[in-house]
Amino acid sequence: MTVHARTIPVLAEKDVVGQLRSLRAKQPVDFWAFYSSQLNGIVTDPSLMVLPFDDHIVHRGHGIFDTAAIVGGKIYDVDAHLDRFIKSAERSKLKLPCSREEMRDIIVQTAAASGRRDGSIRYWLSSGPGSLELTPAKNAEPGFFVMIFGGLTYPERYYTEGVRVMTTTYPIKAPLYAITKATNYLPNVLMQMEAKEKGFDNGVFIDENGNVGESSNMNVAFVTSGGVLLHPKFDHILSGCTSLRLLELARANQQRAGVAGVEVRDITVAEARASREMLQLGSSIKVAPVVQWDDQVIGDGKPGPVSKALLELLEEDMRSSDRLISIPY
Ligand SMILES: Cc1ncc(COP(=O)(O)O)c(C=O)c1O
Repeated sequence: MTVHARTIPVLAEKDVVGQLRSLRAKQPVDFWAFYSSQLNGIVTDPSLMVLPFDDHIVHRGHGIFDTAAIVGGKIYDVDAHLDRFIKSAERSKLKLPCSREEMRDIIVQTAAASGRRDGSIRYWLSSGPGSLELTPAKNAEPGFFVMIFGGLTYPERYYTEGVRVMTTTYPIKAPLYAITKATNYLPNVLMQMEAKEKGFDNGVFIDENGNVGESSNMNVAFVTSGGVLLHPKFDHILSGCTSLRLLELARANQQRAGVAGVEVRDITVAEARASREMLQLGSSIKVAPVVQWDDQVIGDGKPGPVSKALLELLEEDMRSSDRLISIPY
């Protein structure tokens, strides 16, 4: 006779909703509004922000995503993020659910439904539900999901004292996967976990030629002893929208940024380690100074002037550039 430790209930619809609610009560989240093409609408109750398990984004990782920021009631640089989203979709052989304009409109409407004036937008495209196979199910419709949430936060000390990174022991993604913002973030997750376990804040991927790659969810850049802002080429790492914009801003405002020039090229580890400043750049971290890499101090071990100037340039751009669109609350 089989002895069960506990009899597992078979749930009715109302029990499922009740369980989803108690899960959220145990673990509150800053999720404010969620659009799902599968629900054909927006929900604001986090318990209802769910996907069918058989969607291939869940069990095969066949999906992509991107992020944009809500700043003072406006969305920043959404078109650059949508361009990258569409490129990621093409590389992943994912069908778009609707036109680019419609996706943009869904993003704006979901942001409005959240009522929030500051936060983050993350949106995903999936190959859809219908089977547990590898290739999309017959008649599968792509899923489009938009989440308006509190965003990622980092400790204040990252900016006042600086970030400490280690060279990860995990291999960098092959270029095709690194340039595609797919939901497969296993190497990135493992890199960050490894760094935290070893007492660092984050990791850095190095490619097989010994050149610097990127960090877990941000790019890295350097300031040479001659004052040149150096960024790795984007052929084997994600084309960070923040990096691309900052490279433009630094080129146009060299004096204010405190740089003597801007170069995008392969950077060897030795050259990177000899830099005066090291920076992390990304939508969530914005610009953070890196003061230690493995057992080596970068520059004088304190946050440098270029990181501060670039953060100011970016924050200004996020509040008052032509890259902002209004949210119709
Ligand atoms: C792996 C990786 N590299 C770089 C970035 C920086 O990109 P962005 O500036 O568009 O946030 C991100 C974040 O999206 C990322 O996940």
